[in-house]
Amino acid sequence: MLGLKLPTDPRWVNIVEKNIEEILTDHAYCEQKAASTAISLIIGFPEKSELVKEMTALAREEMGHFNMVHDKILKRGWVLGRERKDEYVIELMKFFPKGGSRQTHLVHKLLYAALIEARSCERFRLLSEEINDEELSEFYRSLMVSEANHYTMFLKFARKYGDKEEVDKKWLQLLEYEAELMKNLGKKETMHG
Ligand SMILES: [Fe+2]
Ligand SMILES: [Fe+2]
Repeated sequence: MLGLKLPTDPRWVNIVEKNIEEILTDHAYCEQKAASTAISLIIGFPEKSELVKEMTALAREEMGHFNMVHDKILKRGWVLGRERKDEYVIELMKFFPKGGSRQTHLVHKLLYAALIEARSCERFRLLSEEINDEELSEFYRSLMVSEANHYTMFLKFARKYGDKEEVDKKWLQLLEYEAELMKNLGKKETMHG
């Protein structure tokens, strides 16, 4: 599914279930960061009109998701906490060497975004299937579909703005690297933990 090389251990859901406040808090910031990534692509590559158009829509959609998660937090009588550190994303973004041309930088940014969307989609699917909370199960099923579309959109742009063959090669390498990272994850009640 989604090209991912290593599925999440379903027992991760058992950890999440014990701390719904924590997963919702972390999830809220995942959505906010997805919107921030879309905005940073607009700022960094304003001449790519098609990208700017789609990132504008995406920023709005991701903030819509943020709002939905925030409402779930409020509905349960909690207040949004501080941002949680996302070790997964920090480690993932060490993969491509720094520097290179502007185009290379764009391709790397798009590939990272595609992978984060794909993994998030996989986590949402797992939650929708396994979580013992009907409201959240339905919620994650609906979000899963959006994130799958985001994953394909980012990959499409990477292939459009980079050399297709090179992009496909980098994508496979990134997937392998991510699978290695995942071996040590799936143990915390965060979206990518
Ligand atoms: Fe989202
Ligand atoms: Fe997304």
